[in-house]
Amino acid sequence: MKKTLISAFALLLSMTLFSQKKEIPMYLDDNEPIEKRIDDALSRMTLEEKVAMIHAQSKFSTPGVPRLGIPEIWMSDGPHGVRMEIDWDTWSHAGWTNDFSTAFPALTCLSATFDPELSRIYGEALGEEARFRKKDIILGPGVNIYRTPMNGRNFEYMGEDPFLASKMVVPYIQGVQKNGVAACMKHIALNNEELWRNTVDVEVSDRALHEIYLPAFKAGVKEGKVWSIMGSYNKFRGQFCSHHELLINKILKGDWAYDGIVVTDWGSAHDTKEAALYGLDVEMGTWTNGLTWGESFAYDNYYLAQPYLEMLKKGELPMSTIDDKVRRVLRLTLRTNMNRNRPFGSYATEEHADVARKIAEQGIVLLKNENNFFPIAKERYNKIVVIGENATRSQTVGGGSSELKVWREVSPLDGLIEKYGKDKVFYTMGYGSGPTVYDQFVESPYDADSLRTLALDLVKDADVVLFFGGLNKNYQQDCVGGDRITYDLPFRQNELIEDILKINKNLGLIIVSGNAVAMPWLNKVPAIMQSWYLGTEAGSATANIIAGDTNPSGKLPFSIPKRLEDNGAMSFGTISYPGIDDKQVYKEDILVGYRWHDTKKIAPQFPFGYGLSYTTFKYGKVNADKKEYAKNDIIKVTFDLTNVGIVDGAESVQIYVSQKNPSLQRPNKELKGFTKTFLKAGESKTMTVEIPVESLAFYNDQLQQWIVESDVFTLHCAASAGDIKSAVNIKVN
Ligand code: BGC
Repeated sequence: MKKTLISAFALLLSMTLFSQKKEIPMYLDDNEPIEKRIDDALSRMTLEEKVAMIHAQSKFSTPGVPRLGIPEIWMSDGPHGVRMEIDWDTWSHAGWTNDFSTAFPALTCLSATFDPELSRIYGEALGEEARFRKKDIILGPGVNIYRTPMNGRNFEYMGEDPFLASKMVVPYIQGVQKNGVAACMKHIALNNEELWRNTVDVEVSDRALHEIYLPAFKAGVKEGKVWSIMGSYNKFRGQFCSHHELLINKILKGDWAYDGIVVTDWGSAHDTKEAALYGLDVEMGTWTNGLTWGESFAYDNYYLAQPYLEMLKKGELPMSTIDDKVRRVLRLTLRTNMNRNRPFGSYATEEHADVARKIAEQGIVLLKNENNFFPIAKERYNKIVVIGENATRSQTVGGGSSELKVWREVSPLDGLIEKYGKDKVFYTMGYGSGPTVYDQFVESPYDADSLRTLALDLVKDADVVLFFGGLNKNYQQDCVGGDRITYDLPFRQNELIEDILKINKNLGLIIVSGNAVAMPWLNKVPAIMQSWYLGTEAGSATANIIAGDTNPSGKLPFSIPKRLEDNGAMSFGTISYPGIDDKQVYKEDILVGYRWHDTKKIAPQFPFGYGLSYTTFKYGKVNADKKEYAKNDIIKVTFDLTNVGIVDGAESVQIYVSQKNPSLQRPNKELKGFTKTFLKAGESKTMTVEIPVESLAFYNDQLQQWIVESDVFTLHCAASAGDIKSAVNIKVN
């Protein structure tokens, strides 16, 4: 009897469980295909719920569908670390005590590593931090192209070359998304200046658009499979980019078959009808009540809120528009916050600091090094004098949306003291830049002359002087919302450098910036390093390079022109930069960065891809595996590389390609492959770089197609865009 009762109970229980299982709505069932789950969720939603899902409910979140248990989506800046929490409805910091993150090096540094594997570990670590902080979308990476050194935001991007940016962005995205957190590639497209970024209307040829400004986005979509993309503020051919018929509907969602969401930049939506029809999926940060700026809790008045709902109800806009947007948002949700298998992430760990340090060390670029100025061995000097605000200044504060609140930021001075000992390192500021205030320049409270006097006094009997200058993350330097106002170093640094040189010539400069700067003192200083906003481990990485514990191997991800007007964009005057009456024409066309310097034969101060090492590499003759190729072949380029010096080191080798007789003008040469390898002193390796013939194509704007022409091509094996070691010709049939 007891047994029968137990089995009856068990049967009842399993029936209940079974019937309960059957009752799980399809959209919640992990075993069902994602697209079916989306259909199911969509079929259960009211029109009001759909519209609510596609615009902000706070500064950085959207509401999901509470009735159906579909969670909110939480977003956070930014590309090189998870930003501190921001208030629900304002830009103020929320003042939490548990939002101290790891600062990874800014993306110029990542790009300077020329190492996609480092980009992967960068993405993974950043994704882990974002996941731990319960973010579903991390608002990075930025892949706008470095067009002019004046752009305040170049530091957040991956340099001037579309091929390099494409190769670096893909593993970054994959690394982030492995954590069930969406990367958000930004800002599509042509957001290449901060000045007037909200209004400027860019005109650029189809060729430059496809060859220069879009490839990194395309790689992120097609290879990286990115889940979200942010529209830019500016216009392109008269239409705002965040709801753009050509850019978003035709190219991104049509030609590239992108299945993720397009989110506005914060406040980049301008019109309900255009937003509905031209591909915008999620509206954030509008700050409008439909009439004025600065309204709080205005979310219902967003272009994609009440006004959209009304137009849909009146039949003025097709229902298919809202369904497509919601479908994309649901897809993102199922990939992120409704993916119950996503890992939990980790936050502010020593492992992440190690990642940050490794990338920082691999990205620092040695520009000049006469008479082995660097490395500075521990016993070499007794009095090391460090001058310059950037030796102590936090470079994680400021910059705009990529600002961070860090759990640790080792300053260069701390790194040097740790390395050489307190009794050998002496410091004074030398110059002051003022506090960080968003959108405003604020004078330094310190007296400039007194700072100089102290510095000039201290360098008198120094064995060696290390000057840490450059830019910082203040307004009108490397910062969101404004461009630089001069190519020169700010705060009379040039003068100070010249004055130091008069007293002590044993001077090494460490330029901390995300942008090229003028170097009028170049011939007088024995050594220069280009450093970056390196994040949490800035000081330890810098000290390791200076002391030679790590051999520098970074290469410039942008050209450094001698004069500002030697840069392509800057050479055409105001219409090309920053524009006239909000109109801007990219007159240099496809000749951006080294493409301009090479083709126009204007020698840069330092070329793209340039960087020295403490060792010397000998390049063998480059070979191709065949003489002739079909259009679908892959060219295997090989060459020997030997470390002929006495220290171990890594070298990034670049393969540039030129076409002999193109039917349309092409740049003198273009990067089509690179590889970085580590060689012990005396070691030699045969290196191979694979170049698909189809990547030799150019964009024919008459045909609106990528074309590889049958022609002779030269493959240049190079240490930089200005240092070709050998070349080989091949024929494409
Ligand atoms: C920036 C974006 C950023 C957003 C949110 C905007 O000003 O352009 O890159 O993600 O703010 O903070």
